[in-house]
Amino acid sequence: MGALPEEINGIVQLLEDKQEYSSGKRIYFTGKIQGIQTVVVFSRWGKVAAATTVSTLLLQFHVTEIIFTGVAGAIHPQLNIGDVVVAKRLVQHDLDGRPLMAEFEIPLLNISYIEVRPKQLDIASKAVNRLIDPNRFTSVVSAEELKQFNISNPQLWMGDIASGDKFFAKNSDKEALLKKLPEVLCVEMEGAAVAQVCYEYDIPFTVIRTISDAADERSAIDFPGFTGKIANKYAVEIIQNIFRQSHETRM
Ligand code: ADE
Repeated sequence: MGALPEEINGIVQLLEDKQEYSSGKRIYFTGKIQGIQTVVVFSRWGKVAAATTVSTLLLQFHVTEIIFTGVAGAIHPQLNIGDVVVAKRLVQHDLDGRPLMAEFEIPLLNISYIEVRPKQLDIASKAVNRLIDPNRFTSVVSAEELKQFNISNPQLWMGDIASGDKFFAKNSDKEALLKKLPEVLCVEMEGAAVAQVCYEYDIPFTVIRTISDAADERSAIDFPGFTGKIANKYAVEIIQNIFRQSHETRM
């Protein structure tokens, strides 16, 4: 699953024996990547869009694992554009049932954070490390593009991702989020919804986000620039690296 048409297009091109199915305003592309039966879909944006897309993948296509790639705004001050975050835990920053329950708690599940399983973390971190390996990275993103986006030495981060139905474009909003959730690395609009549905169906999942902007006043400029030019290159490489590992462990 991806939250950008640009990313999905690159991954669709990896499919062998490709077929297309249309359902609920989404196009589900099926086929094989490195011999593994796969469905690729653009989820659209926001928690509802992501949750319904995951439900369709599980109930109509019977997928057994979900991988979500996309971009995110940096919340932690040390993150830079071009860094990659692998979610260890996901939280919905706009979920607030107080005074009935704690802020961020998911009603009836009685938890606020959904955790990613260790096996998925291991595979995702290896896939990202291969992407950002300095010996290989410039074959994925050109030196000119790296300069344009001021990316010099991209890093892998692993930790909390916060999701909600809001595009962060003000420093004051970012500071307010950091105060409430100081461990959050980045913010986006789908990951925690994907995590909740997968948790409820007991399905392993991975959320990987490339930092496209600093979730501040520059976001409206940085976000479209990054998503238009770079995000799909990261996504295609990361997905290939993940499938390569799954393929290797099956042999
Ligand atoms: N995805 C990428 N950048 C984002 C931002 N600034 N806010 C929310 N989601 C994002």
